[in-house]
Amino acid sequence: MAGIAFLLNGTPVRVTGEPPTRTLLDWLRDTRGLCGTKEGCNEGDCGACTVMVTDADGSRALNACILFLPQLAGKAVRTVEGIAGPEGTQHPVQEAMVAHHGSQCGFCTPGFVVSMAVAHLNGQTDHDDALAGNLCRCTGYAPIIRAAQAAESAPVPDWMKDDSRFILAQIPNDHGVAGSTVQANAQGGSGGADVPPAFCPASSDDLADWYLAHPDATLIAGATDVGLWVTKQLRDLAPVAFLNGMRDLQQIEVQGGMLHVGAGVTIAALRAAVAARLPSVAELLRRYASEQVRNAATIGGNIANGSPIGDGPPALIALGATLHLRRGDEMRSMPLEDFFLDYRKQDRRPAEFVAGVSFPEHAPALRCYKISKRFDQDISAVCGCFNITVTDGRVTAARIAFGGTAGIPKRASAVESALIGKAWTEATVTAALPAFAQDFTPLSDMRASAAYRLETAANLLIRYFHDLNGAPVSVLEVAP
Ligand SMILES: Cc1cc2nc3c(=O)[nH]c(=O)nc-3n(C[C@H](O)[C@H](O)[C@H](O)COP(=O)(O)OP(=O)(O)OC[C@H]3O[C@@H](n4cnc5c(N)ncnc54)[C@H](O)[C@@H]3O)c2cc1C
Ligand code: FES
Ligand code: FES
Repeated sequence: MAGIAFLLNGTPVRVTGEPPTRTLLDWLRDTRGLCGTKEGCNEGDCGACTVMVTDADGSRALNACILFLPQLAGKAVRTVEGIAGPEGTQHPVQEAMVAHHGSQCGFCTPGFVVSMAVAHLNGQTDHDDALAGNLCRCTGYAPIIRAAQAAESAPVPDWMKDDSRFILAQIPNDHGVAGSTVQANAQGGSGGADVPPAFCPASSDDLADWYLAHPDATLIAGATDVGLWVTKQLRDLAPVAFLNGMRDLQQIEVQGGMLHVGAGVTIAALRAAVAARLPSVAELLRRYASEQVRNAATIGGNIANGSPIGDGPPALIALGATLHLRRGDEMRSMPLEDFFLDYRKQDRRPAEFVAGVSFPEHAPALRCYKISKRFDQDISAVCGCFNITVTDGRVTAARIAFGGTAGIPKRASAVESALIGKAWTEATVTAALPAFAQDFTPLSDMRASAAYRLETAANLLIRYFHDLNGAPVSVLEVAP
């Protein structure tokens, strides 16, 4: 029997005959009548559609509106209808939401309850972070945060633990678990007559072979960009390959002072890996979208997408990262900055995919600054990353990279040249500032004007100077 099998609120289900880019949100509401999962923005911003997804790596909150059915193969999904106990017993976070008046119109409440239940299950108590991807228009966040805090000490209900036990024991491997060649509605090389095929490679070897034969295919990793091509642009993406079953590209290795990060590593996993090693990158990633998006989005997708306002590339370029690409059996590597050729144009050949990225494990002088209108869950207007080496009071090396100031993530080469060899003083920094205009010709758009972006880039170098000298620069801290 073919199809995509997963556990839904504790019950095994098998999906057949659905297009591979059918979103979980639409499927839940249209075919299962599970309308507790709400559609707000349909683009990953509001969290009204939050569901809990469990696999061998644990449980996490994801946005169902930009989650395609084949991404769920072999996993367990819990919607708000499955957060209460089997006999209708309320989950501790539900009780706390009632007790603390955490809901008014109620539209956002199911999404909040699922996010809170996942955080409760995982023992996560940084509620501002955990709930930054859930937007509420009427209650205000204080009662919701109070409810999350009140539920902290309650034990995790037994039914919430069942998914991980069940998933490992009872979802058989031939039922759509990533690792086999899976179609949305059939196994083998083709879908049904009217349903486009979806390929679910188990490894990068599988993908390399298949991609050579299907160079026009769309690769889908976390779908946090691609999801919007479907929900907002109504694009037909077939044929598609889902990369989330490729375990070999989800590894992080430390070797010889370098971190080797597979393309399929999520932003959440990367953030955890760099938390102690590269704290400034970890802080940047804390402000990367929301919990739900970070749990899905991959670093490979962030790079391959080639957005000039992506947060990963400036940090990685400032670190001197090397990008690894694969086409068939051929691997090649390049400095990450060379990958970005022009607006949305990357140095990637047909059938070539991003395999991973390597960068130094430590970089004490690295600082990353994200400037956006909203602190959480917002795209950068400007993202500036600085990594300057000062030896005996002189600048001996400089890597400065920005997002939001050109059509691509780009190094500030003229500024770097203006600094290298000079004494590391405020006068040197001030003298280097006009060079930003040589490096960058930003655009004006709804996030910021060109003038603002250029001036901000220069100001960030001044901030970096003071930051390295130990002055308090965090916008979250009030200093005397
Ligand atoms: C609400 C929201 C907020 C966001 N906020 C931020 C933010 O703060 N900062 C930020 O940088 N981004 C943000 N993004 C954008 C997005 O999350 C990132 O670009 C993300 O890293 C993309 O990764 P993905 O795995 O979801 O890629 P996908 O959407 O699956 O793919 C993106 C592109 O990369 C290609 N691709 C994916 N993997 C590979 C591979 N291994 N090899 C070759 N091509 C590949 C796909 O074909 C596609 O062209 C946000 C998105 C949303 C929806
Ligand atoms: S509907 Fe808004 S995040 Fe999914
Ligand atoms: S309670 Fe109305 S949007 Fe949150």
